[in-house]
Amino acid sequence: MTPDAAAATAPPREAATSENPLREGSVTLRAADPCTIVVFGASGDLTRRKLLPALFQLSREKLLHPKSAIVGFARRPLSDQEFRDASHPPDHDPATPKHEWQRFAASLYYRQGSFERVEDYAALRAFLEELDRERGTPGNRIFYLATPPDAYPLILEGLRAAGMVTPADDPLRWTRVIIEKPFGHDLASARALNAQVHASFDERQVFRIDHYLGKETVQNILVLRLGNGIFEPLWNNRYVDHVQISVAEAVGVEGRANYFERSGVLRDMLQNHMLQLLTLTAMEPPARFEADAVRDEKVKVLRALAPLRPDQVSERTVRAQYAAGAVAGGAVPGYREEPGVNPRSATETFLAAKFEVDNWRWAGVPFYLRSGKRLAKRATEITIVFRHPPYALFRSAGCEALEANVLRLRIQPDEGISLSFGSKSPGQSLHIDPVRMDFNYLTSFGADPPEAYERLLLDCNLGDSTLFARRDEVELAWEHVDAIASAWEAGGPEMNSYAAGTWGPAEADQMLERDGRHWYRL
Ligand code: BG6
Repeated sequence: MTPDAAAATAPPREAATSENPLREGSVTLRAADPCTIVVFGASGDLTRRKLLPALFQLSREKLLHPKSAIVGFARRPLSDQEFRDASHPPDHDPATPKHEWQRFAASLYYRQGSFERVEDYAALRAFLEELDRERGTPGNRIFYLATPPDAYPLILEGLRAAGMVTPADDPLRWTRVIIEKPFGHDLASARALNAQVHASFDERQVFRIDHYLGKETVQNILVLRLGNGIFEPLWNNRYVDHVQISVAEAVGVEGRANYFERSGVLRDMLQNHMLQLLTLTAMEPPARFEADAVRDEKVKVLRALAPLRPDQVSERTVRAQYAAGAVAGGAVPGYREEPGVNPRSATETFLAAKFEVDNWRWAGVPFYLRSGKRLAKRATEITIVFRHPPYALFRSAGCEALEANVLRLRIQPDEGISLSFGSKSPGQSLHIDPVRMDFNYLTSFGADPPEAYERLLLDCNLGDSTLFARRDEVELAWEHVDAIASAWEAGGPEMNSYAAGTWGPAEADQMLERDGRHWYRL
C-alpha cells in the first residue's frame, strides 16, 4: 500500500455543527448529551496536562454540547477565574482563534472542597443544580476521579451519601463515573474498589480508563484484523510463529517516585496497557461491535492466558532496574539515585515476560511482552512474526536463512503499520532481501491521530464503554499480575540491571534466545 494511494481514498473530515454534535466515523452517529463534568483532583497534573486540553479540543470541534459545563473540584482555594486562567493549555496553538478559548473558558467553574467532608458534597450538589438551572442542562453528570487512588473510596462514598448518583435506568438524566488508573494495587484491593463502586453505580455507569484504548492506533488493531479480508485468515498458530509487544519509554520516573516505587512496571504498565494490547491482538471476532460483545471476547483471552506458576516465573519473566547512563546524548542518574527513590529500592523499571494463550487459535504461540523506563527511545509496537514457508524452495540456489515475514503495528510514535517480506534483489543471480510495505498515519491521512483522552471523554459522554475496562477484565488482569508479584516477592528471578539509554538487561535477550528467537529492533 503506498501512502499516496491510501491518502487518495481517505474521506474528507466533516465538521459537526454546534446544534448537532456528532462523532464522525462512529457506528451510531449520536449527539453528545448536554452534561456537567465534575473533575475531582482539578488542580492536579493529569487535569492540566491531559483532561482540560482534551475537553478544549472537543469543544473546538463542537463535539461537546454547547450547554455542557466543567466543574473542577479540589482542596486548593481558587476562584472560577483563577481556574480558567490555570486551565489555559500551556502549548496552546497561537493560531487558535481567541473566541474559541473564551467560549470554552466560560463553561469552566471551580469549587473548593475536601474529599472527606460530607457538607462539601452537599454544597457541590447544590451548586450543580444551580448550574443546571442557569445553563439549561438536564442533570446529566460525569464524575471524573483524577485524584490519587487513596481518595477514590472517599469520593465514591461522598457522592453516594449526598444522593448524587441517579439510577442507571433513570429515563430523564444519567450519572457516570470515570475512574483513572491505578484501579487497585492487587486483586484484593481491586475487588474491594469494585465492590465500593457497585454500591452506588451500575456497571453501565462505570468507565475505567486505560488511556491506551483511546489511542487511534490501538483501535486500529481491530480494524486491521477484522475490517480487512486478508489478515484474519493468517492470524493464528498455523501462520504466526510468535508475537512481541513492546512498550519502551525513554523517560524515567518523572517526579512520580512516590507512586512508582509502589507500583513498578508490573503494576504501572503490564496490568493495564500491555495486557490490553495483548487481548486486542489475540481476541476472537465479536459478534457485534458493541461494548459488551467486544469486552466478552477480551475477557476470554484473559481467561485463556495461562497464569504463571511460581516455578515458571523465574524462567518466563525478567525484572531489572536502570543504572546511570545516557539518554538522547545527556547523562542521567540511575533509578536508585532519582529524587524520592529509596537507595535500596527493589522496584523494577523494566520487565519482560513470556505468556501463552491456551486456546485453539494460539496454542503454541508465545506472546513476549517487554516494557521499561529509560530505554533507548520511546516506541510502542506489536510485532507479529510469521512462520517460515513449509518448504525452503530457494535453498538449492544458496538462499539458506530467509527472514521471517513481520507485520509491525507501530502504536507510537511514527504511527503506522508495516509488513516485511523477502524480495528478489535485482541481478542475474538469486539473492533474496527483506523489503517493507509501509503505511503511515500522517502521510496517509494528513494529520496526527487525536489525543486518547479526547476520544475517551467523548465516548463517556456518549455512553459508549467499548474502550473502557470492565470489572471482570480488570480483576482477571490483576490475577496475572499477582501471580508474578508474589513469585518475585518470594525471591525469583533476581533483579537485573541495565544502563539507562539501552534496550534493557541482557537477561531479556537471553529469555528469547533460549527459544531460538530475538527481540525485533524498534
Ligand atoms: C501511564 C503510566 O499510564 O502511561 C506512565 O503511569 C507511563 O508511567 C504512561 O509513562 C505512558 O503513556 P504514553 O501514552 O506516553 O505511552
